[in-house]
Amino acid sequence: MYARERMEVSSSTSPAEETTADTVVVGVFEGEQAAQAPLQALLDSGEAKRKAGSLALTHIDGRRFLLAGLGSREDFDAEQARVAAAVAARRAIELGSQSLSWDAPAGADERIIGALVEGTVLASYRFDRYRTHDEDEPGPTLEQLTVCADADRGAAVARAVVIGEAVNAARVLQDTPANDMTPSDLAARATELAAANPNLEVKVEGREEIIARGMGAFAAVAQGTAQEPALITLRYSGADGSGPVLGFVGKAVTFDSGGISIKPAATMDEMKFDMSGGAAVIEAVGAIARLGLPVRLVAVVGATENLIGERAVKPGDIVRTMSGLTIEINNTDAEGRLVLADCLAHAVNEGAERLVDLATLTGAIVIALGSTYAGMMSNDDAWAAEVQAAADATGELVWRMPLHPEFKKLVKGKYADLNNAPERGKGGAITAAELLARFAGETPWAHLDIAGTAWDLGRSYAAKGGSGFGVRLLVELASAHS
Ligand code: BES
Ligand code: ZN
Ligand code: ZN
Repeated sequence: MYARERMEVSSSTSPAEETTADTVVVGVFEGEQAAQAPLQALLDSGEAKRKAGSLALTHIDGRRFLLAGLGSREDFDAEQARVAAAVAARRAIELGSQSLSWDAPAGADERIIGALVEGTVLASYRFDRYRTHDEDEPGPTLEQLTVCADADRGAAVARAVVIGEAVNAARVLQDTPANDMTPSDLAARATELAAANPNLEVKVEGREEIIARGMGAFAAVAQGTAQEPALITLRYSGADGSGPVLGFVGKAVTFDSGGISIKPAATMDEMKFDMSGGAAVIEAVGAIARLGLPVRLVAVVGATENLIGERAVKPGDIVRTMSGLTIEINNTDAEGRLVLADCLAHAVNEGAERLVDLATLTGAIVIALGSTYAGMMSNDDAWAAEVQAAADATGELVWRMPLHPEFKKLVKGKYADLNNAPERGKGGAITAAELLARFAGETPWAHLDIAGTAWDLGRSYAAKGGSGFGVRLLVELASAHS
């Protein structure tokens, strides 16, 4: 079900035009010349431009060449390489290309090479499982990529393939509609990954176990649906794994109707994406295991639907969390923080010493940061700096927002310890994080609100649909730790 045709990716130290690929991509920086005369002629005529993102097509000796503008050499970084590769790949696919060979810029380091691979693999993603009409039948896609560099970059290429495939796998989980991506389906994917790696273990618990553990907040969200919820706990222990145990936590509400505090109809269909945090966590852990990174980690994914019905939790209901704190549920649409409250506490119980959670948690973060940054809230400056560094390295950007005792007051309950829906319009993304903070306790924790970046990211390598946001960041975070 999850297996997709894989692109065959390799690296070479031979010149790109010596490969057998049907299409060769050559980059050119501002103020620089193209090595091949026909490409230079294209630049001279003005048909090709050096501006980042521009692309021109020509044929040399019967072979297709794409000349990609790379902008200024000083500004060229991994994200620009990812974008350039995606722009080239998309055009190549449109033109019916099946094999691509990238003439990497001279001196390109491992990050640039990796980004060229990621950009190509991500741009080749498509979700067509449900299309049956002939006119919608997509043509062939890229089968082969060779990255030609002036040094042996085999390791960087191999790593980027694993990461790119993990991001695309997360996108499949996201794009699959809620009728086919239930909590049990997510659990099945986690189980499949664990079965493929001896260092990865998984435990899946259902409604009874969630209740038995005292996870009253998670259970309250899950009580409105007939779908069995899943508490998915993954544990990975790489060879020579030392350093603090990493704890990844993901919100996986496979459909968020809002519950009794129902959402408006207009964009409710998008709430199949409300499991994006969980998808990113599952696939990141899969990639970390495939890469064999020397880290120890525990990952917790809370998966459930948030529906309406005679059993559904009601506004005003008060629940007791696993940690003992009580929460007044004043809005059943603020369900993510309820699921995460118990999952964060569970991750700490399971030995997590550094926490990062990913969640499509609030509409407020979309208003604040759009699709450019995920919001980050943290109780620990050093840990926040590590997460920030992983974000900067991968282009999965985060912007830190503050916590403050005044916000903390807003999450105090009228009849219980906490309330899940503070006054509207007052720092909605932050007050959500303030509630979560109570469940991270003393453990260094960073919360990433990915509501604006999880889908329709608008970048050339992930324009529409699920973006897999967070997979690359989490893998980078684990790499930096190893
Ligand atoms: N899943 C939503 C947040 C969301 C909204 C993600 C739009 C992506 C796009 C979340 O469960 C939610 O509904 N949050 C409420 C909280 C409020 C009721 C306190 C929100 O943000 O409006
Ligand atoms: Zn909601
Ligand atoms: Zn939600």
